[in-house]
Amino acid sequence: MDYKKNYLDIVKTRVKESRYIHTLGVIETAVKLAKIYNVDIDKTRIAASLHDIAKYIDIDKQKEIIHKNFGQEFLDSLVPQVYHGPVAYVIARDELNIDDQDILNAIMNHTIGRIHMSTLEKIIFVADFSEPNREFKEAKICLDKAIKSLDEAVYYALDQQLRHLESKGYKIAMIEYDVRDYYRRLTNLE
Ligand SMILES: [Fe+2]
Ligand SMILES: [Fe+2]
Repeated sequence: MDYKKNYLDIVKTRVKESRYIHTLGVIETAVKLAKIYNVDIDKTRIAASLHDIAKYIDIDKQKEIIHKNFGQEFLDSLVPQVYHGPVAYVIARDELNIDDQDILNAIMNHTIGRIHMSTLEKIIFVADFSEPNREFKEAKICLDKAIKSLDEAVYYALDQQLRHLESKGYKIAMIEYDVRDYYRRLTNLE
């Protein structure tokens, strides 16, 4: 794996300008958190750069990639808005030859999180929600929490996302509630 390769240049050719600007914000925030939590900066940059690389792939193609790599049951457990996480995982692994499992997991799980996320996964998840180009006030609240406790920030971001989706009437996968409940229990123990 080439840590020096500029993955951002590849992303730039595949996403809209607004998404590229969001990606720069995620890198900035993720690196800030990585310094606080002693996570490798190169790995953090790579995961943040690539997390939304699949965002504009045709939805039927995304479905096909998930079906081929993870199976129908997994595909059925997801809603279309989150397909681009697992699809980006496949692109990073198979096309860009990224072999670091922690980076791949951080890319894969940036949309809905998972139980037992690593510190890098939590950082990418939280940075995606709280980067400076996000216009909702919850972004700043989330970042303030992240500086003190990543688990609390993950719980906060998940809870906000689920409330938002519920208010819009979107279908939500049960696994997302399970993940939120896991982080709620975890933060209550602290
Ligand atoms: Fe995303
Ligand atoms: Fe994102």
